[in-house]
Amino acid sequence: MAQKVQGTEDLFGGYMRAWQRMQDVARELFGSYGFDMIETPAIEQVDTFVHGIGESTDVVRKEMFRVFSGALLPDVLERGSEGHLKPRQRMAMRPEGTAGVVRAAVENNFVPQGAAPAKLWYAEAMFRGERPQKGRLRQFHQVGVEWLGASDPAADAECIIMLMEYFCRLGFSRESLRLTINSMGDAACRPAYRDKVRAFILDHAEEMCEDCLERAQINPLRAFDCKNDHCREVMADAPLAPDNLCDECAAHYAAVKRYLDAAGVSYVEDPTLVRGLDYYTRTVFEVEVVGAGVGAIGGGGRYDGLVELEGGKPTPGLGFAVGFERICLALAEQGVDLGGEEPSCVYVACTPGEDTRAAAFETCLALRSAGVRTEADYQGRSLKAQFKQADKLGARLCAIIGSDELAAGVVTLRDMVSHEQVQVPAAELAERVTARLA
Ligand code: HAM
Repeated sequence: MAQKVQGTEDLFGGYMRAWQRMQDVARELFGSYGFDMIETPAIEQVDTFVHGIGESTDVVRKEMFRVFSGALLPDVLERGSEGHLKPRQRMAMRPEGTAGVVRAAVENNFVPQGAAPAKLWYAEAMFRGERPQKGRLRQFHQVGVEWLGASDPAADAECIIMLMEYFCRLGFSRESLRLTINSMGDAACRPAYRDKVRAFILDHAEEMCEDCLERAQINPLRAFDCKNDHCREVMADAPLAPDNLCDECAAHYAAVKRYLDAAGVSYVEDPTLVRGLDYYTRTVFEVEVVGAGVGAIGGGGRYDGLVELEGGKPTPGLGFAVGFERICLALAEQGVDLGGEEPSCVYVACTPGEDTRAAAFETCLALRSAGVRTEADYQGRSLKAQFKQADKLGARLCAIIGSDELAAGVVTLRDMVSHEQVQVPAAELAERVTARLA
């Protein structure tokens, strides 16, 4: 039997309804903040991710799925490297949404000089070649937003407030959510801070793991995220980002916190929060569900240099993304089924006969025109078997059409729970059904 690729999932039934609900809630909430939906291609040129996310990140170095067209594959395999390919022939599956949206914004000139900001949201599959485990997939789904052209710290706060409201509307209790924030500085102050952290790691080289020593060379701030307990202990004494901010970044961070305080949004400052993507500047944030053990359910931050890295004019930006699969896992632990119940339907049953079948056919069409989810028999079942099927499908009502009903111009409407039956004029069926279901 053919099997799905490890670390991927099929979305159907309640799981699919949950994914759709995440999008419905996003459309309504993000829409009220002025965000419009965007979809970018699942494949981009590798450079879009390398420039945006950063060459030294794990996402780019270890996790990106490369894409080759069939015609190229033998050639690539033979040479064992893609190095000889022209830049335009190097493609990858998107590991996250931000770089692609920013690429699209630059290419389509979404934020011309002096224009209103672009506010975009997306709901898309992402691909990362990580080791599959609970809450960590190779194809997973994110809902995210990107806000381009806003430098005001109020935008950072609004993004965070909207994110927390989103989680609450999905069904999380606010007390179960832990929001952590930090500021990572900008092009003016981060290089010096990064050098300080590198020097600190090298000063403690004998106590640190091999990975951290490598990180010291290419991306020292990642050492804060080392899984090794000993490295974490050592890094507890490392210089911290908020103590190394330039005046502008410090003022920006203070203002973000003031806005959050004014909105009554509680947060924890984590001066070691560094995030795994290189494009961040200033504000970064992450949300976890206390005790859920699924890792962060969402995260984001400001990326004031990214538009330029993708070839555009200097344009500030910020955003976040949340992970659908982790949200489902964490909500399930709180007893919330995001997919909810299967939508109920009306079942149209009829006694055998050409006339009754034709009337049932028309009744189905009329009910569906009225927006009622309607099912019927398509396998020539007996009336008794049709009732059974109606039960299996969870039908709330059954519309029964026999030759007596046909002659009298009525339909028998049966309540599938109480088994009560009433006869209603055929012409009024849709109206009566809609009223009963409301
Ligand atoms: P991220 O933190 O890499 O940020 O991912 C956001 C969320 O996606 C995570 O908090 C997690 O819930 C989910 N996620 C990440 N990797 C996996 C995985 N392998 N399996 C399941 N879920 C996963 C970003 O992607 C940024 N683009 C967010 C952003 C938008 N920053 C600014 N704008």
